[in-house]
Amino acid sequence: MKGIILAGGLGTRLYPLTKVTNKHLLPIYDKPMIYYPIQTLVDAGIDDIMVVTGGNDAGDFLRLLGNGKEFGLKEISYAYQEGEGGIAAALSLAEHFAEGDQIVVILGDNLIEGNIKPFVERFRRQKSGARIILKEVPDPERFGVPVFRNNKIVRIEEKPKQPRSSYAVIGIYMYDRMVFDIIRPLKPSARGELEITDVNNAYIRKGNLAYDIIKGWWTDAGTFESLHRAGNLVAKKIKDR
Ligand code: DAU
Repeated sequence: MKGIILAGGLGTRLYPLTKVTNKHLLPIYDKPMIYYPIQTLVDAGIDDIMVVTGGNDAGDFLRLLGNGKEFGLKEISYAYQEGEGGIAAALSLAEHFAEGDQIVVILGDNLIEGNIKPFVERFRRQKSGARIILKEVPDPERFGVPVFRNNKIVRIEEKPKQPRSSYAVIGIYMYDRMVFDIIRPLKPSARGELEITDVNNAYIRKGNLAYDIIKGWWTDAGTFESLHRAGNLVAKKIKDR
C-alpha cells in the first residue's frame, strides 16, 4: 500500500497568508501543516509516500522534509503539479509512483485526532474498489456530502446548497489501481477543476465504494476559520496527553 499527500493548489482562500508561502507550510500550533497528514499515513503503517506539490515554493518542501527521517522514513517521493487543476488532477501525477498498488490519498490540509489504521486494514482486505471516510459535521455544505438510501451511498454531491445528509466526505481516500483510468476521461467542473467527488461517484456507479465513519475530531485547514480551529484542536490534544 502506498500513501499520496496532495499539497498542490494555490491556497487563495488564505490570502495574504499564502502570498509568499505554500498553504501546507503554514503553522498548525507547533508544526507545519504538512507534518500532520504525513504522520497520519505513518501511524497507519504506510511508509512509501509521495508528496504532490506545486506553486513557487515547491523547493521548500524538500528543504523541510528531506527524506522524511523525522518520521522514520527512508525516503519521500515528490511530484510537481503545474497550476491548480484540482484534486483529481494532482492525484493523476502519482500514477507512475503507485505502480498498480492500492493507494491511500490524503489532502495536505486535513487533520484528524485518531488513527485510520483500522480503515486501511479493511481496505487491504477489500482488494478492489474504493473506500472513503465520513464525519458528521455542522456545516456539510462546505464539503462533499453523501446521499444515502438504506444506509448505502447512492451519490456524493460537492458543496451542495441544500445538503442531503449531515456528513462530510473527509479528505482521506483509498483506491485500487483503476482510479487512474477513472481520472483520465474526467472533465473540469464549474470551478474549473477535476473533482475527487467525480472519481468517488464513478466508483459508486460501479457498486464498488465502501465507507467508514470516523470517531474523534477531523478538520480541514483551508480557510481562516478552519486554520484557527485546527491549531486549537491540536493544542488541546497535546495538553490532554
Ligand atoms: O477537506 C475535504 C474536502 O476537500 C472534501 O469534502 C471535498 O469533497 C473536496 O472537494 C475538497 O474540498 P475543498 O474545496 O475544500 O478542497 P481544496 O480546493 O481546498 O483542496 C484541498 C487540498 O487538496 C489542498 O490543501 C491541496 C490539494 N489540492 C487541491 C487542488 C485544488 C491539490 O493538491 N491540487 C489542486 O489543484
